[in-house]
Amino acid sequence: MMHSSKTLYVHTIGCQMNVYDGEQIARGLIPLGYRPVGRPEAADLIVVNTCAIREKAEQKVFSFLGRLAILKEKRPDLIIAVGGCVAQQEGERILSRAPYVDIVFGTRSIDRLPELLADAAASGRPRVAVEMAADAFVTPRPPEKGERVSGFVTIMQGCDNHCTYCVVPSVRGSETSKPPEAVLAEVRGLTEAGVREVTLLGQNVNSYGRKEGLCDFPDLLGMLNEIEGLERIRFTTSHPKDLSDRLIAAFRDLPRLCKHIHLPIQSGSDRILKRMNRKYTRAVYLDRIEKLRTACPEIAVTSDFIAGFPGETDDDFRQTLSIIETVGYDSLFAFQYSDRPSAPAARFSDKVPDPVKAERLRRLFDLQSRITLEKHQKLVGRVETVLVDGPAKKQPADGPVSDPTQWAGRTSGNKIVNFTLTPHWKSEAVCPGRLIPVRIEAAFPHSLRGRPVDGGAPRSGAQGEETHAA
Ligand code: SAH
Ligand code: SF4
Ligand code: F3S
Repeated sequence: MMHSSKTLYVHTIGCQMNVYDGEQIARGLIPLGYRPVGRPEAADLIVVNTCAIREKAEQKVFSFLGRLAILKEKRPDLIIAVGGCVAQQEGERILSRAPYVDIVFGTRSIDRLPELLADAAASGRPRVAVEMAADAFVTPRPPEKGERVSGFVTIMQGCDNHCTYCVVPSVRGSETSKPPEAVLAEVRGLTEAGVREVTLLGQNVNSYGRKEGLCDFPDLLGMLNEIEGLERIRFTTSHPKDLSDRLIAAFRDLPRLCKHIHLPIQSGSDRILKRMNRKYTRAVYLDRIEKLRTACPEIAVTSDFIAGFPGETDDDFRQTLSIIETVGYDSLFAFQYSDRPSAPAARFSDKVPDPVKAERLRRLFDLQSRITLEKHQKLVGRVETVLVDGPAKKQPADGPVSDPTQWAGRTSGNKIVNFTLTPHWKSEAVCPGRLIPVRIEAAFPHSLRGRPVDGGAPRSGAQGEETHAA
């Protein structure tokens, strides 16, 4: 088994939770003799890990499957498995649209994939497993030693919030929290493999443990903050309605908790927020932001927006633009509203026409681009602690193809910093996973550029993550 050389390609579409699942799928197949390869054409088994959040994401799934149909025609022994949120949503219907698929497995059946592969091979017939098991979590397997600096840990599955536009509660099931002992063990496994930064994943981490009567989220963060070798903790996503004062205080009190919060608001209009069933108002949201900034003045704030939700008027949209100005986000994600057949808003009347949605989205991005660049410019001249990720991906256009003096990492506020190694740091052997002080020298729309501060000791261990003015 160990030496067999079957090849595997996992194609992941969707959110970080899917990225985590995709990694676990790949690691879970190693004991069966599968080795990952870089392209689908070279694989004996292709796993398509799908997303149903918007129509476009779903279309991507079926167009990728269309590509695979051609491969399967050439190589009938190719095995195709479809997992994730579209698999959960469509179940058997995947097979009627794509009859060459061998396995359909849902969001809570990931651990069953090896068994399903064996069944499909033995019976020569497709297998479908989309039950909503109560035991929601995949058995976690750590990466190879030294493989990466940052890792994800899913701490919750599903969602109980039922925002009216959203497909997640139906495709990921009801909310479940991973017990704290399991989270701690998983994070320790990551740090033993050299991971220095973890991002905890859940649809609403603020309600962590509530249903099961486990510890709450700030307590979990407190325990993680003590783990040896872990330098940085991030999390996503936080629902504004449940953002507690204790979580806000954690940004002030826990040195390893990064100074960044992703706090999706979706709209700046109370009327639309109500129709979305978000359960907070603009005023409540702004109050949370103010408290966050009082507790932690440096905190970076990012958000998600939906443009053109059913019934959104020009005036509602103006309120969205105005809240973007008022909060002054570091960056944001925004999407045109997309009808999801299983979500209540699909049946709302007064849908906004596509060209209006597109125009609103464009105005929203224009505004945010200006704000992001201004935020980045304010960092020029400051020294930021950067967690070194690896050699810079984008090399300077005028430089050699791969310049070993170009490195990249992120600040506590999650901004990408590309930096040039000075002779001092070259001798210090800067390597992925180290925290080093970098003076920011230039600001761009999506990144910063800087230079390490000579002679400053690299940071490690129990020290804080604060950014200091130069
Ligand atoms: N649990 C997270 C969001 C997960 S989905 C939260 O509550 O914030 C990620 C983002 O996709 C959402 O924040 C929303 O902005 C967007 N989204 C979800 N459903 C959508 C839809 N039907 N149309 C357009 N955008 C959508
Ligand atoms: Fe979807 Fe709302 Fe749950 Fe987020 S909180 S996953 S937007 S239902
Ligand atoms: Fe998509 Fe499922 Fe994530 S619908 S956004 S992959 S939870």
